[in-house]
Amino acid sequence: MKILAIESSCDETAAAVVENGRTVLSSVVNTQIEEHKKYGGVVPEIASRRHTENICGVVEKALSDAGLTLPEIDAVAVTAAPGLIGALLVGVGFAKGLAAAAGKPLIPVNHLRGHIAANYIAHPDLEPPFLCLVVSGGHTHIIDVQDYTHFHVIGRTRDDAAGESFDKVARSIGFPYPGGVNMDKVSGQGNIHAYQFPHPKVDGSEFDLSFSGLKTYVINLVHNAAQRGEEICREDLAASFGHTVATILCEKLFLAQQHTGRKTIVVAGGVSANSQLRAMLTAECEKRGLRLCLPPLSLCGDNAAMIGAQAYYEYLAGNTADSSLNAMATMSI
Ligand code: KG4
Ligand code: ZN
Repeated sequence: MKILAIESSCDETAAAVVENGRTVLSSVVNTQIEEHKKYGGVVPEIASRRHTENICGVVEKALSDAGLTLPEIDAVAVTAAPGLIGALLVGVGFAKGLAAAAGKPLIPVNHLRGHIAANYIAHPDLEPPFLCLVVSGGHTHIIDVQDYTHFHVIGRTRDDAAGESFDKVARSIGFPYPGGVNMDKVSGQGNIHAYQFPHPKVDGSEFDLSFSGLKTYVINLVHNAAQRGEEICREDLAASFGHTVATILCEKLFLAQQHTGRKTIVVAGGVSANSQLRAMLTAECEKRGLRLCLPPLSLCGDNAAMIGAQAYYEYLAGNTADSSLNAMATMSI
C-alpha cells in the first residue's frame, strides 16, 4: 500500500510516499528555519503563509521522486494534531482536497505517533510493544507503546520540553534559533563537569520530568556572569547542560523501564539527534542488556516519511477520516 503523507505542523513543509509503513519511496522536506531565525523562534503566521506557498511544489516533488502519479497512490495521510493550528490547517485542507479529488482514503496522523514511527522505517524488524522516549521542541514524554495504535503515557514534562530548554539556553549564549543543534556541535569541545546544575524534583508522579527550573538556572547564570563582565565558556556550558539533560532523561526513562519491564527502548523526536543523549542511552542500554533503537539523524526532526509510516498502521486499525476532519493544536497521543 503506497501512502502519500503530508506534514506541516511547525516550520517544515514536508511530503513523502511510503510503502507498507516501512519503505520510503520519496521524502521531501522544505524547511523555513532561515526565515524564523530572524525572530529567534517560529512565528506562527509566517509559518502558515510559507506552508501555503510551498505545499503544492513539495507534494508534486514527492510524487515525482517516487515515480508515481496521484491515481497510483492508495491513500493520503496528514498530520492533524498537535502543532501550530494555522500551520496544521494548511496540510489538513490540502490533504482533504487531494483525497476527495482522487477518491482515496484520508488518514489523519498524530504528530507524536509519527515521530515514534520514524523508527519503523529505520529498524524494519521493530514491532511494539516497547518503551519510547519522545523528545522534541514541544514534547517530552515517556510512552509505553503497547501496539501500533495504542499508547500509554507513563511520564511527561510538567513544563518546558527538553528541546525548548536547549533552544532557550542556546539563545542566552548567542546561538541562533533553533540552538539545540549548535549546543550539541560545540559540546564535544567542552568539559561536562565544568558546571554543576540542579536536577529537578517533581512531586506526584515519579516518572514526570521538568526542565524549566534548570533552564532558568542556566540563563540566570549566563546573565549574572555578563553583568559582572565575566566570560562564559560556551563549550563548557553546552557540554555541562547537555550532560545534565541527558542524565535527567535517562534517569526517568530507565525507572520507567524497570516499572514496565520492556526490553526494547526506542527514542524519537528532534532531540533524539543529540550526541550526548545518544551516547548515554547507548552505554546504559548496553549495560542493562536492552535493545536500543535510535532514528537516523535524517528522521529525527520533522518529516513526512514518519507520518506515512504511522499512517499505514492507522489505516489497518480503521482510523480513517472524511471531509469533516479538522486540525487540533493540542491532542494527547
Ligand atoms: O521534532 P522536532 O523537529 O520538532 C518538534 O516537533 O518540536 O524537534 C525540534 C527540536 C528543537 O528544539 C531543536 O533544538 C531540537 O529538537 N534539536 C536538538 C538537536 N537537534 C534538534 N536538541 C539538541 N541536540 C540536537 N542535536
Ligand atoms: Zn516534531
